[in-house]
Amino acid sequence: MNIVIVGSGYVGLVTGACLAEKGQHVTCVDISESRIEGLKRGVVPIYEPGLDEIIDRNAKVGRLEFTTSLPDAMKKAQVYCIAVGTPPDEDGSADLSHVLAVAREIGQHMTERSVIINKSTVPVGTADRVRAAVDAELARRGVQIEFDVVSNPEFLKEGVAIKDFMEPDRIVLGVESGHARQVMDELYAPFAQEGARIIHMRVRDAEMTKYAANAMLATRISFMNEIAGLCERLGVDVESVREGISADPRIGTRFIRPGAGYGGSCLPKDVRALARMAHSAGFDPVLLSAVEHRNDQQKSRLYEMVSSELGDDLRGKTVAVWGLAFKPGTDDMREAPSITLVESLLKAGALVRAYDPEATETARRAMPQDPQAEGTLRFMTEQYEAVEGADALVLVTEWPQFRAPDFARLRTQMRYPVVIDGRNQYQPDEVREMGFRYQSVGRP
Ligand SMILES: NC(=O)c1ccc[n+]([C@@H]2O[C@H](COP(=O)([O-])OP(=O)(O)OC[C@H]3O[C@@H](n4cnc5c(N)ncnc54)[C@H](O)[C@@H]3O)[C@@H](O)[C@H]2O)c1
Repeated sequence: MNIVIVGSGYVGLVTGACLAEKGQHVTCVDISESRIEGLKRGVVPIYEPGLDEIIDRNAKVGRLEFTTSLPDAMKKAQVYCIAVGTPPDEDGSADLSHVLAVAREIGQHMTERSVIINKSTVPVGTADRVRAAVDAELARRGVQIEFDVVSNPEFLKEGVAIKDFMEPDRIVLGVESGHARQVMDELYAPFAQEGARIIHMRVRDAEMTKYAANAMLATRISFMNEIAGLCERLGVDVESVREGISADPRIGTRFIRPGAGYGGSCLPKDVRALARMAHSAGFDPVLLSAVEHRNDQQKSRLYEMVSSELGDDLRGKTVAVWGLAFKPGTDDMREAPSITLVESLLKAGALVRAYDPEATETARRAMPQDPQAEGTLRFMTEQYEAVEGADALVLVTEWPQFRAPDFARLRTQMRYPVVIDGRNQYQPDEVREMGFRYQSVGRP
């Protein structure tokens, strides 16, 4: 099958590369010329483990191509997958301008019966808006061409995106015509043959499924952060509680780690967009509002811990930050808790020495540039270099290389021995025995 993927970001590139790997002929389109030029030369614009090799292998045999021209790409295919961004609008709703721009362009150039797959995360009812946008362009051209709009939300996790795409828990297909179902089943046949569970449903149901999934994950995190806050006040160790509740198969082990709050390109914006959807539908999303509120508070926790150790005036103080990406395994900085922390540290006048194994470049662009802030942010190239002369070390993102640091070395390097562990990676007693003041989330 020939397929066009529009939008060559985290989702579009992974989708395109993995479908090519499964034997489809894929053309990835993006409006960013530099991105496409780079991809043509084999430069992958994002960090996603394993993606480079798949792109390289499939590009070499001609199964994966890149272009900035959607009309050119459309000449070879009748299946178009929209994977452009849906960033939050000012009111928290999903900004559909990119999705609808692509829909209009498809309508301007479609020549044969087509299937339009929406893989971007979009509010319920967006497929109807995509259909209307395409219809309007067809009407302008005075042509009648049949087409379907399918919802096929993506559930991959950055950092393990290749595995998630290749071995999905489920593939959700919102399809409402026999033709669309046949095309989608054919597209995913190689996955179904390997045992992937394909769940067919109506388009609106599929659109909602994506939001419900992310809202559930965010709820679990905020719930556990709330329990952690309570544990801190009651002299309880949240890690024992976590172990105790996760043994219940109804609860399980995933997404119940307390920490620095959730970030990333999906959970924050999707919770907000779902809440907006609820408001627009005249329904008060009390739970979603609380989930978001708890997360906003949690993102400030690490700064509160630093200031409880060093005070609120951090002029002349140096704070080392380990990990900037919103989670390990990615260079994605969107809504990362590190941004909230660094912003507060700079406002309080600190010198921040930050280190991340993969996200330095994206962090340079994402970090606040507040001219009022008195502090200074420096990006370091090595984790121990960041700690030199520091008055506190804050672990924000739990990359594996931070899991078992050389504490003796830290003790000699740091000016003042404070460790703030935003991910409960270390054993409180052990760290304290080595002479550190130590704070973590939800542990006495
Ligand atoms: N990143 C994730 O982990 C993830 C997971 C599941 C779902 N999603 C959803 O998938 C969608 C894409 O997310 P992403 O993280 O890949 O975004 P991204 O920002 O990494 O990539 C989007 C790409 O689309 C391109 N683009 C924008 N307008 C275009 C147009 N008119 N024509 C061609 N290209 C255009 C941009 O240049 C960019 O390269 C979002 O709706 C997101 O919510 C993301």
